Amino acid sequence: MNDSAHGPWVHRDRPWELPAGQLCPESTWLNRRQMLASLGFFGASSLLPACTRAEAPVKLQAPWPAELLARIPGKHNTRYDPERSITPEAIGSVYNNFYELSTNKDAVVRLADSYAHRPWTVEVVGECHKARTFDIDTLLTQFTQEERHYRFRCVEAWSATYPWSGFPLRSLLDAVEPTSHARYVRFVSLQDPKSLPGQRKQPWYPWPYHEGLTLPEARNELTFLATGIYGHRLPGQHGAPIRLLTPWKYGFKSAKAIVRIELMRTRPPTFWNLTVPDEYDFWANVEPAMPHPRWSQSTERLLDTGDRIRTRRFNGYGKYVASLYEDPTNMGFLRG
Ligand code: MTE
Repeated sequence: MNDSAHGPWVHRDRPWELPAGQLCPESTWLNRRQMLASLGFFGASSLLPACTRAEAPVKLQAPWPAELLARIPGKHNTRYDPERSITPEAIGSVYNNFYELSTNKDAVVRLADSYAHRPWTVEVVGECHKARTFDIDTLLTQFTQEERHYRFRCVEAWSATYPWSGFPLRSLLDAVEPTSHARYVRFVSLQDPKSLPGQRKQPWYPWPYHEGLTLPEARNELTFLATGIYGHRLPGQHGAPIRLLTPWKYGFKSAKAIVRIELMRTRPPTFWNLTVPDEYDFWANVEPAMPHPRWSQSTERLLDTGDRIRTRRFNGYGKYVASLYEDPTNMGFLRG
């Protein structure tokens, strides 16, 4: 539904909202944590009254200025609305893959504030004329934030639909002016074993988490840098404060907590392809006819209802992306 069809005075319940009174405002849970921490109650989550976020924080988070938070979610862009209902937040935001925090999907949310989400910088470097380091406040103000509803398909054969907010990656790429040698884009997540328990406990993974796209994929209109979800800033479990989204690819391509974006001449190695090359390829386009060694990809389980539905090629986004893979000359060049 298009928000612009409603006057600003009309309050519509969003499909993922819990009834009023069940959610704590961000200022409440931040202030309560800060008060408890100042009294020495680190890890005092068991003392907090019931609240959807009560279990989360371990580390103090710096407060975000109201002007910045007001930029999220931005105007709803209805162009990509999927014909699926939004997965309720109470389900979608407590079932996460974020190995830097935990390999247990249900535990990630409790560790979501292990690392500081602000201040934060993203370096954009490599084959570009105007390499630059952006801080998160600049990314939120310089690039107009918009809300997009995207389907999300994990290679583990579950799926959800999330209301993200953020901005297209190509606006950021335009700002740094890629050189004519740029062919690929590499995304690097936070490396900080001190604050990321998963990096301490599993030193055998090729940290930091890193992913890659071809430049045409990175410049595709669907490719999005998310700074928010469910109408508020991105929480740690979803990759605060900024993460990638490529909705026609399996979810592992969408690197979280990005600190560096690098324009490259050659194809970068990627985290899961390095770790288990037989199971995860660079392309990772959703393809129901190509089974993964452990999960058939022909169907998927909806996270909220548990229903099993047929998986669509490119996760249903073929009209936007199929042409990227159709030109054999282009593919020869890109696969080289
Ligand atoms: N990014 C980082 N840095 N670390 C991770 O472990 N997991 C990936 C991806 N991005 C991951 C990551 C995988 S496997 C999935 S399915 C999605 O994040 C999950 O995103 P969500 O938890 O927001 O649903």
